[in-house]
Amino acid sequence: MPRILILGGTTEARVLGERLARRDGWDVTLSLAGRTASPVEHAVAVRIGGFGGAAGLADFLVAQGVEALIDATHPYATRISQNAAAAARQTGVPSIAVRRPPWIAVVGDRWIDVDNAGEAAAAIGQQPRTVFVTIGRNDLAPFEMAPHHRYLIRSVDRVEPPLPLPHVTYLTARGPFREADDRALMQTHGIDVVVAKNSGGPAAYGKIAAARSLGIAVIMLRRPPPQEGPVVVTIEEAMAWLDHAFTAAAARGV
Ligand SMILES: NC(=O)c1ccc[n+]([C@@H]2O[C@H](COP(=O)([O-])OP(=O)(O)OC[C@H]3O[C@@H](n4cnc5c(N)ncnc54)[C@H](OP(=O)(O)O)[C@@H]3O)[C@@H](O)[C@H]2O)c1
Repeated sequence: MPRILILGGTTEARVLGERLARRDGWDVTLSLAGRTASPVEHAVAVRIGGFGGAAGLADFLVAQGVEALIDATHPYATRISQNAAAAARQTGVPSIAVRRPPWIAVVGDRWIDVDNAGEAAAAIGQQPRTVFVTIGRNDLAPFEMAPHHRYLIRSVDRVEPPLPLPHVTYLTARGPFREADDRALMQTHGIDVVVAKNSGGPAAYGKIAAARSLGIAVIMLRRPPPQEGPVVVTIEEAMAWLDHAFTAAAARGV
């Protein structure tokens, strides 16, 4: 019975779980960090919480008899991906990462590329602006250094405690977000700049397309550097990799 661990927190992980849940006799667990108060439903068994670094994850792989590890975490979740690569190397458990490609700027996009939230806060500038911040709630501290702007901050869970800033509107919402809805939201709030991560995929692209159509600049946090180890882009490729891994193991009589 193939035993698989998926590191999740993304749509890809959830869909991969759904696909694998249809396979009789496959033992699949999906791991979440436990960041969101009410995670979405999953079709496979879920475990929640950190492992205790790369060594803790390696211990988990061995103790649970995991035979294949799929890192389907978010492209900006670098620590868990580094841990996954290290734990796979240490234990010899076959592993692969699923990484959706980044968005590419097209004609009409006005992107300002930056490396982190601190650079994003600085790039908004000295003139007071109305800023739509969509980078999650864990990287917001640098915006405290720019209290002269008005902010609309969208996140899955509430920002607690609220930021010590004079002009913030908080919006809790979970994607996918449609372009038309994001355009209406940005018009309603008089947004003149968006701060985003280059997450890739369709679910969060609405704001990027809306900004383009409104002629609004997007301050884009660059993707972190790629991790070591094999990478696929689609769920289909991950399924094919799993099939190959277990067919090869069966052929060897493992
Ligand atoms: N960063 C983003 O922008 C973003 C966006 C959407 C979703 N997410 C999801 O949110 C989760 C946390 O993101 P992050 O950027 O805070 O991660 P991170 O900085 O790479 O990871 C920090 C620590 O959280 C634990 N962790 C992370 N993902 C885990 C998982 N799937 N299962 C068990 N433990 C996990 C690990 O703790 P231990 O060292 O104790 O094992 C890891 O060392 C990820 O699963 C990611 O897929 C992140």
